[in-house]
Amino acid sequence: MILSHKYEDYRQQIREFALSEIAPHARRLDQQQVFPYEHIPKLNELGLLGMVVPREYGGTFTDTLTYAIAVEEISRVCGSTGIILAAHNSLCTYPIYVFGTKEQREKYLPPICGGGELGSFGLTEPGAGSDAAGTKTTAIKKGDKWIINGTKCFITNASVGTTFITTAVTDKSKGAKGITAFILKRNLPGFNIGKKENKMGLRGSDTAFLHFDNVEIPDSDRLGPEGGGFKEFMITLDGGRISIGALGLGLAQGALDCALEYARASEEGGQPVADRQDIQFKLADISMQIEAARNFVYEAALAKDSGMKFTRLSAMAKLYASEAGHYASYWAMQILGDEGYTERYPVERIYRDVKLCEIGEGTSEIQRLVISRELLKGTS
Ligand code: CAA
Repeated sequence: MILSHKYEDYRQQIREFALSEIAPHARRLDQQQVFPYEHIPKLNELGLLGMVVPREYGGTFTDTLTYAIAVEEISRVCGSTGIILAAHNSLCTYPIYVFGTKEQREKYLPPICGGGELGSFGLTEPGAGSDAAGTKTTAIKKGDKWIINGTKCFITNASVGTTFITTAVTDKSKGAKGITAFILKRNLPGFNIGKKENKMGLRGSDTAFLHFDNVEIPDSDRLGPEGGGFKEFMITLDGGRISIGALGLGLAQGALDCALEYARASEEGGQPVADRQDIQFKLADISMQIEAARNFVYEAALAKDSGMKFTRLSAMAKLYASEAGHYASYWAMQILGDEGYTERYPVERIYRDVKLCEIGEGTSEIQRLVISRELLKGTS
């Protein structure tokens, strides 16, 4: 997709920032599994922490295409930083803005949109991953308070976030319509964060359990109507899947960047690697996959901004870009051969990082389910 100068200039700005400030740390974050605290004020300064929220609540309110380009370019050099950004914007600031009251927006958004704090989204539970409506966490009403008990798992930004949204069952008899969403601050009594996961990829990002042990919150911190939480979280994931598509796309482009650099600079048996036709064909195939993924991601972003239903397009963007990321990193590693299998090149890290895109925010199987359901309903 050919973009206007406005978008390409923005891409260039983020690319330069990513190369100078993020890329030099990517390998260390992965190897030492450390969270990039030092990146957060810089991302904040560039306005990247409030991209989907208007200025009156501390955000920078860009359109979704601009946001996707930012996630793509950051992920191109560091997947861990890319997912921190994607989960924060799409899964926490966005639903508080869209479903929150004016008071909730004023109270919770400024610190996480321009104040340099991070947000987090608690949906998945042990036993309720793909079946998100199978939530076991409960919220029981006592007067004008709710008492929350339960556990959430695989939560991005869990140990580093200050603001969380979560779902809990408020009326078991109503199934998905008995699930309600809530906003929580991390310092509430009974709200504990579990140990950080030791993951295969995206190892600089923080993933941990949330434990709620009789956590008491006022009814004014309920996000949306009672029973509306499942739908709110599904709508949130529709947007989130565009940013996971952008994460997969950026990682795929990072793999191609590396393969191109290697092919141009290396020789085998006295012959430049770039002169080999099998390598040239593979570079062409990777590039074609990436362009197709880029079109899917940008089209879903444009559809979201146009106000049309974009559930099917965002699922397709995430599915295609994750699989393109897998393809690109797999074949980039083949092009580099044994060099690609070492930590000297980022390809092995990208190969591990991109796997999450086929699992998080709904597995590839769930995306196929969402796409086919939408087709059969004839809704989008
Ligand atoms: N938009 C609006 N409403 C929606 C919706 C959407 N995208 N999807 C579902 N709904 C509504 C339905 O219309 C229905 O409401 P009505 O009865 O009023 O029509 C209601 O929600 C229930 O929907 P379903 O019957 O379709 O629900 P289901 O139980 O069959 O589940 C599912 C559907 C698509 C499989 C869903 O469970 C799902 O998306 N699962 C995957 C969960 C997921 O992506 N988890 C990721 C966790 S976050 C993460 O990974 C973060 C990270 O940091 C990496």
